[in-house]
Amino acid sequence: MKQEPKTSKEISGMGHSMKRKEDGRFIQGKGRYVDDIKLEGMLYMDIVRSPYAYAKIKSIKTEKAMATPGVIAVVTGRDLEKYNLHWMPTLMSDTQMVLPTDTVMYQAQEVAAVIGTSRYAAADGVEAVEVEYEVMKPLMDPYRSMDPGSPVLRTDKKGKKDNHIWHWEAGDRKKTDKLFETAEVKVKEEIYLPRIHVASIETCGCVASYDKVNNYLTMYMTTQAPHAIRTVIALVAGHVGLTEEKIRVISPDIGGGFGGKVPVYPGYVIAIAVSFLVGKPIKWIEDRSENLQADSFARDYHITAEMAGTKAGKIQGIRFKVLADHGYTDAAANPSKYPLGLFSVCTGSYDYDTAFIESDAVYTNKPPGGVAYRCSFRVTEAVHAIERITDKFAATIGKDPAAFRMQNFIKKEQFPWKSPTGWTYDSGDYAPALQKAMDVIGYDKLRKEQAEKRKKGEIMGIGIASFTEIVGAGPSKDFDILGIKMFDSAEIRVHPTGKAIARFGTKSQGQGHETTYAQIIAEELGIPAENIQVEEGDTDTAPYGLGTYASRSTPTAGAAAAMAARKLRDKARKIAAYLLEVSEADLDWVPGKFSVKGAPEKSKTIQEIVFAAYTNHPQGMEAGFEATHYYDPPNLTFPFGSYICVVDIDKETCEIKVRRFVAIDDCGNIINPMIVQGQVHGGLTQGIAPAMYEELIYDEDGNMLNGTLMDYLVPTAVESPSWETGHTFTPSPHHPIGAKGVGESPTIGAPPAIANAIIDALSPYGIMHLDIPITPYKVWKALKEKGVVKAI
Ligand code: CDP
Repeated sequence: MKQEPKTSKEISGMGHSMKRKEDGRFIQGKGRYVDDIKLEGMLYMDIVRSPYAYAKIKSIKTEKAMATPGVIAVVTGRDLEKYNLHWMPTLMSDTQMVLPTDTVMYQAQEVAAVIGTSRYAAADGVEAVEVEYEVMKPLMDPYRSMDPGSPVLRTDKKGKKDNHIWHWEAGDRKKTDKLFETAEVKVKEEIYLPRIHVASIETCGCVASYDKVNNYLTMYMTTQAPHAIRTVIALVAGHVGLTEEKIRVISPDIGGGFGGKVPVYPGYVIAIAVSFLVGKPIKWIEDRSENLQADSFARDYHITAEMAGTKAGKIQGIRFKVLADHGYTDAAANPSKYPLGLFSVCTGSYDYDTAFIESDAVYTNKPPGGVAYRCSFRVTEAVHAIERITDKFAATIGKDPAAFRMQNFIKKEQFPWKSPTGWTYDSGDYAPALQKAMDVIGYDKLRKEQAEKRKKGEIMGIGIASFTEIVGAGPSKDFDILGIKMFDSAEIRVHPTGKAIARFGTKSQGQGHETTYAQIIAEELGIPAENIQVEEGDTDTAPYGLGTYASRSTPTAGAAAAMAARKLRDKARKIAAYLLEVSEADLDWVPGKFSVKGAPEKSKTIQEIVFAAYTNHPQGMEAGFEATHYYDPPNLTFPFGSYICVVDIDKETCEIKVRRFVAIDDCGNIINPMIVQGQVHGGLTQGIAPAMYEELIYDEDGNMLNGTLMDYLVPTAVESPSWETGHTFTPSPHHPIGAKGVGESPTIGAPPAIANAIIDALSPYGIMHLDIPITPYKVWKALKEKGVVKAI
């Protein structure tokens, strides 16, 4: 049955589901985190980490550690080597040490693991392990790493002669170069998005519990993608008998993931190996500093961004070059076909047909990774680059940045729009979103105020970002991770009394899937949402799926929920026709029941129909009432938005104050407005973070200079302005309920809006670009160079 996409009002107003509690939400999780798990005989693991970024291990002495009270074992790379478990694959088909046998490649790398009867015993054991290193000079700068004379880091790879990982391109080089030869106006900027960290409240950890009698591993772990992890464990440990049917991955409640809980970290693998060897459950929980120093990073892209256009203000094309620092191994969490992630959506929200993106990735002596930190595989980097260069172009030709964007937006009637790098944007209507943001903030009035302030020498700036997102990977024809296709799934089982359990291949980390998935099924099937139990994260019960990251849950598993519910509604129609003794064509569906056309008093509720599916179903029909759907999206969804930020900068202290921030988002039809607002608020705060505070800093010897949260500044409510949010509604034409993802839009839109506001404020002094995070010190330095402020 073909369904027209519903309006946002219809979908968000699913009365019954919103009434259950005053706040419209209900929690079905068990309130249990990995660290709360206690199993009989459980042992604890702690990890010895390298103080050096690049060093040969000369010896590891474990005698003192073994003599420490409560220490049971010390495990080294040489121990794992005996079982061929000392290396593992990364998500990008590179290789990564589980524990080193001879060389450490980054500071805080795992060197050995200590197993104890308590967390304290294991920690004391770590202190007592003696490692002798021969320290080498690390390569910390990706440009230096590319030098032909630089030492080759990955000597484990046979025949490797340099530190280059891959080269990747999108768009048309010839056409773009030609445009840049002839264009009237060309602007260029070197943009660096520094390495930052996913500081989720809960760190990573696991309890690996191997049952020797049944040869069965239960792995409780902090993962956003339990099924994929089970497959990876089977690939790594299948040769020692741990095949996939003998592995159960359970991802209980998770205290924030944001992409950082997608990768497989060595700690998980060591815990499994030790549990396998000693036959006892092993618990490993990172502490905050380990999490900050050693887990996957985000960003670390060096971008040369160029834009070409006319003096009259028509954008004609872009040319971007990226150097990606992947650390010691390529452990990026990207779909296989897109090693640069979805960066090639960097053509943005503007109408032009010429673009070329060229990128290289290199190894350095930094921790590995490259996760989609609350972003759909590098869209944050892409949006930052296009929105910064767009502002620079507008400033160069003397146009107002809002008018310049309005002039260049892709128009509503041009969708579906084929981008010059090969994406098909499903739907969009950009001008109304920007107009709404301008109206809410009072744009024209603010520009007048700014002009007055400038006359008095005061520093005020207004910044815009009009971003286009790309979320919902698959489609599976183009998207896979380690060869596993990127679809997602829903299974709905309705019990005889009309109450349901629904299971999914995704895994919420606080996004409220328990509420919104139940709402989708309630809307489609007429069963009240409070009668639908939603479960995720257990590979023994949930259907196979690729997990939750990159705002993919609503576009994939949310769609699967609607499709599975529609299969059930089709079955319900057949049963209703049988019970009411009419043909299927004579029935009308009104939420919650089928009634006979022209005789609405003759009807059967969904509960009566479900009961009949178990007690009185037509002969020849399969009994029961359950359906599964594996949804392979025909395209990605392209949410968008326009954000405007106003900043005031104190000329004496150079303190930057975000006075106002208006965020207008369009994620198509909204399932739950309150959850979406929560997503936007949190995401905006995670957007102000890299714009003004966060950056992982290393010295040239590879020491991380801000390895604790005392020095790595994660913003809190104190630093967050009062966010003003709003929406426009442009449904996705291909999603069953017209919804697009939303979780990452704010993290993506906020940094360029803030950076553009600060640069706008500083532009009268000839400052045209600063890299994020833009701190008071950076502003002071830039103003000092221009002679505006004096040295203290
Ligand atoms: O994959 P992830 O759950 O992180 O991101 P998402 O698909 O953007 O969804 C985040 C939360 O917002 C989920 O609970 C969604 O169901 C909800 N949402 C919504 O209510 N309406 C939308 N149009 C998009 C998401």
